[in-house]
Amino acid sequence: MSQPVIARAEFAARRERVLRALARDGNAIGLVIAGDADPSLSYAWRPNAHFEYLTGITDEAGAIVLFDPAHPISARRVQLFLRPLNPELERWDGFRSEVSADLKSRYGIATIMRTTGFARSLLESVKRAKRMACLHPLAAHTALISPDLAIFRESAARIPGASISDLTQTLPAHRAVKSSTEIACLQRAADITALGFAAALNAAKPGKSEFEVQEAVEHAYKSGGATQTAYRTIAGTGFNATVLHYHANAKPIQAGELLVLDSGASFAGYAADVTRTFAVSGKFTARQKLVYDTVLKAQSAAIRACRPGAKMSAVDAAARKVITAAGFADHFIHGIGHHLGLEVHDADPGTALQPGMIVTIEPGIYIPGESLGVRIEDDILVTRGAPKVLTAAIPK
Ligand code: GLY
Ligand code: MN
Repeated sequence: MSQPVIARAEFAARRERVLRALARDGNAIGLVIAGDADPSLSYAWRPNAHFEYLTGITDEAGAIVLFDPAHPISARRVQLFLRPLNPELERWDGFRSEVSADLKSRYGIATIMRTTGFARSLLESVKRAKRMACLHPLAAHTALISPDLAIFRESAARIPGASISDLTQTLPAHRAVKSSTEIACLQRAADITALGFAAALNAAKPGKSEFEVQEAVEHAYKSGGATQTAYRTIAGTGFNATVLHYHANAKPIQAGELLVLDSGASFAGYAADVTRTFAVSGKFTARQKLVYDTVLKAQSAAIRACRPGAKMSAVDAAARKVITAAGFADHFIHGIGHHLGLEVHDADPGTALQPGMIVTIEPGIYIPGESLGVRIEDDILVTRGAPKVLTAAIPK
C-alpha cells in the first residue's frame, strides 16, 4: 500500500505562509524552537509540534528556525540552526549529518547553520527589523516563559526600539486546516486504529485483564503500520471506566462490567483518538443501555453540528442538551472534544470550524457511585457538506 508522505514543497509552503504573516506584522522576526531532548530512555523524543509542522525534522533536539521576512538575501529569510556535531555524544545517541548541499536538499532549506552562530544572526536580524513576533503559545505565570519570548526579551533589553508582538494564533490557525496529505495521514492513523479495536474485542472478556486489552490494541497498531501509539492507552473497566485518564490498566475484567477503551495509533506523526465502550459480557444491562444510548445520541447530535461556521461551544451544546434532557447533566464533566493532528490535543485556533479541520467528538457520562462510565469518541473531518467520520469503520 502506498504511504501518504508530506512533500518537501508542502513544508516550504508552510514556512512561506509564516513569512507572509510576519511580513504583515511589520516584517517581524519569528523563531520556532524544537526544544531540548529528554535525557530519559523511557519515552521517544518529539520536537515542538510547530517545529515539526514547519520542517518535518524529528531528530534534531535543540534546533531553531529563524524567520526574517525582509532579509536582503532571500535565501536567508528562513534560517535553520542545528546543534554542532558531537561525535562522542553521537556514539550514544546516533550519528548526525554534516551541513552539506545534500542536507539542505533533504530538508529543502537553503540556509542551515550551527546553533553556535545563532546569537550573531539573531542580533543582525533584530537590529535591522526592530520587531519580533511570538509564534509559540504564551505560558501561564506558573510555567517557564515561552521559549521565543524568553529570547526576544533578552534581545529587546539590548536593542533600543525593538518591540515584541503577539502572533501566537498564526500557527494554530494554519495547523488547524489540514491539507489533503495530512488528511490522508490522519485517515491512515484512523484505519490502523480500527485494526487495533477489532483485536481488542477478543481480549475484552471476563477472565482477561485491562492490560491484555491494551496489549492487543497496541500490538495490532504496530503490526498494522504504526510506529507508535498517539497517546497512552486508557483501558478501564467497572469503576475505572469513570476515571477520565485512567492509565494503570491493571485490573482483571469482571463479568457484567463496561470497558472504556480510549486509544489511537500514530501515523507519520499524526494521531487518531478513539473511544469505544464495550459490555464485556456481550450484553448491556438496562441501565448501561440507557446511559450508552444517551451518549450515542449526544454524539450523533454533536457530529451533525460539525459544520463550517459552527463554534466548538455550539457543538458542545448540541451534545449537552441531549445528556441534560436524559437527566445526566452532572455526569458529563468534560468538553465535547478538541482539534486533532500532530498533537492529540492539537493547537486550537479558537475560531469557528472550517472545511479541512479535524476534531474529536467525545461525549461521556460517568457515574462513579454505580461504577458506570461510557464515552464514545470519533474523529471528524469538517467539509463543505456533511461531516466525514474518519473512524466510522470502528463499530459502535
Ligand atoms: N484521548 C484522551 C483525551 O482526549 O483526553
Ligand atoms: Mn480525545
